[in-house]
Amino acid sequence: MLKIRNLEAGYGKLKVLRRVSMHVAPGEIVTIIGANGAGKTTLLNTISGLIRARAGEIVFDGKEVGRMPAEKVVLLGCSLVPEGRQVFSSMTVKENLILGAYVQYRRNKKDLLPAGLAKVYGLFPVLKDRERQLAGTLSGGEQQMLAIGRALMGEPRLIMMDEPSMGLAPLIVKDIFAIVRRLREEGNTVLLVEQNAKAALRIADRGYVIETGRIILQGTAEDMLANKDVQRAYLGRDLDAETMV
Ligand SMILES: Nc1ncnc2c1ncn2[C@@H]1O[C@H](COP(=O)(O)OP(=O)(O)O)[C@@H](O)[C@H]1O
Ligand SMILES: [Mg+2]
Repeated sequence: MLKIRNLEAGYGKLKVLRRVSMHVAPGEIVTIIGANGAGKTTLLNTISGLIRARAGEIVFDGKEVGRMPAEKVVLLGCSLVPEGRQVFSSMTVKENLILGAYVQYRRNKKDLLPAGLAKVYGLFPVLKDRERQLAGTLSGGEQQMLAIGRALMGEPRLIMMDEPSMGLAPLIVKDIFAIVRRLREEGNTVLLVEQNAKAALRIADRGYVIETGRIILQGTAEDMLANKDVQRAYLGRDLDAETMV
């Protein structure tokens, strides 16, 4: 579904991604783990067409998207749930969702709108209840559901999520991971960036570790959870917390 080869990207003189290669197969949950500043957001933004690839290939469903504008990538079926949610605070929940279908709507696929809303409201009944509420007044967890819902409005086949659990209370984090799992059960493919490495690996099929813009390790989620280096570098704190209980 998604195949990346030797991807390079950055900002001005700053090189961030260095020969990144990875892939996502249909129906998988693939997670990317890495410390702050490793290049995770840069990677997702480059796939999304928000940052231009400098070298390498990004092939989505057989099409090279590395130099495509962001709206074309969305139209092809690849949607991003951005870091920090980035909902439009002064617009209502419903308006935010409608914007998620904007690219399709402009292409005269207007019938998608009611179907998309019904699907998102089915997944997140709380959004239906708060349809007319301003997005800025939602709780963090609700805003995250809205950001996910907005991405789903574009009818994606691949949904990329950038740290969906960031800044949320533990109980809400659990809900978010349950949602990711449910998205996959409903036939979606998910590329999940998380600092909450242990929880991400528990729901993922495979994972990649990114360090200073390079993929330094990859494998099945099971192998990565058992890997001593991964445990030391990324799961340590979680494991300590568990032994303390
Ligand atoms: N808009 C930007 N302009 C310049 N440098 C940036 C920008 N965004 C991120 N960076 C830098 O790129 C590197 C990777 O950042 P990022 O992709 O956000 O990492 P992560 O998401 O893994 O925390 C960092 O060194 C960061 O400071
Ligand atoms: Mg980031």
